[in-house]
Amino acid sequence: MLSREDNALLTRVDRGTPMGDTLRRYWIPALLGWELPEPDCPPVRVRLLGEDLVAFRDTQGRIGLLDELCPHRRASLFFGRNEECGLRCVYHGWKYDVDGRCVDMMNEPDADSFKEKIFTTAYPTVELGGIVWAYLGPPERRPAPPAFAWLQIPATHRQVSKVIQETNWVQGLEGGIDTSHAPILHRLLTMETTRPGFKPDNPFVRGKPPTLAVDVTDYGYQYAGIRTLDEARIHVRTYHYIMPFHQIRPSRSESGVPLVAGHTWVPIDDENTMVYNWEYSTTDAPLTADDRLERRLGNGPLDVDQTTFRSKRNRRNNYLLDRRVQKTESFTGIDGINVQDRAIQESMGPIVDRSREHLGPADRAVIQARRLLLEAVRTVAEGGTPRGIEPTYATLAAAESVLPRDADWRQASLPAGSQIEQTV
Ligand code: FES
Ligand SMILES: [Fe+2]
Repeated sequence: MLSREDNALLTRVDRGTPMGDTLRRYWIPALLGWELPEPDCPPVRVRLLGEDLVAFRDTQGRIGLLDELCPHRRASLFFGRNEECGLRCVYHGWKYDVDGRCVDMMNEPDADSFKEKIFTTAYPTVELGGIVWAYLGPPERRPAPPAFAWLQIPATHRQVSKVIQETNWVQGLEGGIDTSHAPILHRLLTMETTRPGFKPDNPFVRGKPPTLAVDVTDYGYQYAGIRTLDEARIHVRTYHYIMPFHQIRPSRSESGVPLVAGHTWVPIDDENTMVYNWEYSTTDAPLTADDRLERRLGNGPLDVDQTTFRSKRNRRNNYLLDRRVQKTESFTGIDGINVQDRAIQESMGPIVDRSREHLGPADRAVIQARRLLLEAVRTVAEGGTPRGIEPTYATLAAAESVLPRDADWRQASLPAGSQIEQTV
């Protein structure tokens, strides 16, 4: 449970709010690289942390991310012309480069001296791992670009997608770091089904609840479920939470290829989130065209409109819930593991009232994430650097493994140099 004040502190992301200012200290996914396929292609609207922006790729391939509204008389630059290294407003022809400098004016006789005085908001960007990342914080606090292991993987072995979730970002994050829901919400009722989910013979469904450990580290925490297999062996499945909004988890493709996967929950504004989904093959085998459909999760082009990034199964059609399937095949009657997540998280309302919850021991990881986020807000308010900014997370790769009972899995699953501060 959280007080109403802390709930507001946690969830509000506009510029000037404590969490808004905290999130602006990190690099944030702004859009997918392929949305700007080539130099001088059409600009794209981007809403990030409540700010309306426009992204474009200039003649030299550089990416600009500007305030959507032209500083002259506030027309939208989305309608602009992307030409000769700048985005030109079609109202009076003022033109801006990727750094936000006004480089031309078509309606002023003294444009040369006047334009020097005009700047628009322009955020720095880097393109890594198929994503354009932006930094919206104070220039003097800008950290090194993101260094996740998954950003170094060749495109042939990596898949990245995105989808809008109609809730606050923390609601999505809390679903993603809460393993206790997974064998319930995503459960299948029968072996005789091809629908995605955990079948009755899956140890996740069958086994006793695992011992859960949340180890707080310098980047967030690692979250492990430990199951005893026999006298000699344990099964360990480790997730990582990297501050402020990344999850990394072990996964497997349809054909059984081991993957590392994750989500990033990026606030569009207080009540909407862009969920980025990524996965990569941990073997030499590249991902197949079929893997890229992300059928199992319901995040790919078959399930999500690739211009609006809205899920085809959504709140307005009850996610195509089939009550017959719910009786006989799957726990929810809804297809797609992440569609199930979105359905249930959106059902809580855009910002859940956390003062009315009843949390139990299984919610330990959720409670810890809230603590770390509120700690980050305090750290930033005091002028410090919050967790997850220094790239200590760079070599993280979540794993699932069977180990000797006395193995030191805790330290082994951390990147070199990271220490466990506390186990909760
Ligand atoms: S409003 Fe953009 S040039 Fe006038
Ligand atoms: Fe889930």
